[in-house]
Amino acid sequence: MRQQLDDLLSAASERLAAARNVADVEDLRVEFLGRKGKLTGILKGLGRLSPAERPLAGKLTNEVKETLTGKFDEYRQRLATASRAADLAAGAVDVTLPGRRAFGGHTHPVTTVIGDITDIFVRLGFAVARGPEVELDYYNFEALNIPADHPARQMQDTFYIADDVVLRTHTSPVQVRVMEKQPPPVAVIVPGKVYRCDSDLTHTPMFHQVEGLLVDDNVTFADLKGVLSTFLHEFFSPEIGVRFRPSYFPFTEPSAEVDIACVICGGRGCRVCSETGWLEVLGCGMVDPAVYGFVGYDPEKVTGFAFGMGVERLAMLRYGIDDLRLFFANDLRFLEQF
Ligand code: PHE
Repeated sequence: MRQQLDDLLSAASERLAAARNVADVEDLRVEFLGRKGKLTGILKGLGRLSPAERPLAGKLTNEVKETLTGKFDEYRQRLATASRAADLAAGAVDVTLPGRRAFGGHTHPVTTVIGDITDIFVRLGFAVARGPEVELDYYNFEALNIPADHPARQMQDTFYIADDVVLRTHTSPVQVRVMEKQPPPVAVIVPGKVYRCDSDLTHTPMFHQVEGLLVDDNVTFADLKGVLSTFLHEFFSPEIGVRFRPSYFPFTEPSAEVDIACVICGGRGCRVCSETGWLEVLGCGMVDPAVYGFVGYDPEKVTGFAFGMGVERLAMLRYGIDDLRLFFANDLRFLEQF
């Protein structure tokens, strides 16, 4: 019997050592110490022993039972601790990993370009002025030498709010507002929204312009050319070709349109520049003396120049964008490229 108990003890110890988890330990406990287990089987043999042998055998059996119970407890605890440690390790948060970035917005390309244009002119000594988008007919047309029956009114598809109130069709009315308020010299640029009833691949009902106005003693067309050439070379590149072409605006005389060498073909001629090699980017001219009459400046004493440019057009040429409507669709796949 002693031999049986020794065998049981070593068998149980060996199997326990191979247990992989708490469930294995429990299975072994049932197998060895359960009501129908191996130890119970040995206990049943006690009846065959003589009354003299029984107390010792009983004592031995109890000792083995206690030893085994202790061992089972020890393994159960050890494996439970190990499995909890493994669970914790698996679910651990690595605080040294970089966090997930919050979505950060940035400026719209139109805003960026307005900022760049503004920076260049501010460095040249211009101040920034602003005016209302809902504008009186007087400022949008009349005081800019565009009387009621003037054909230039039809050139611009005007949104009317009332008979004498419009959504400004250009930023030029701010020229008049600025001159009304301050005596010469004046050097301002005016970034802002303008509105025209027009919509296709190259026109949207709202777009942005930057107006410029410089009035002082002895301002000449050479000053106009110098300022605008400097601006275009800074905005696009120092090498880009620039040319001035005669044009017409009611509020400037003489007037010109300014072209840059085509940014796509470099001037050789392509579809974007309609094979001309040039792209129009600005309207400009010497302020028409008639305009000075509306603001109380003396046309005998001062001269000046004005210019206006389309912001989206400049942005399209700079970034190689071929559809104006992309600026206003607010598609993040487009906007995130800037
Ligand atoms: N206001 C003109 C336009 O919208 C541009 C311009 C501004 C031309 C200033 C000359 C002088 O087309």
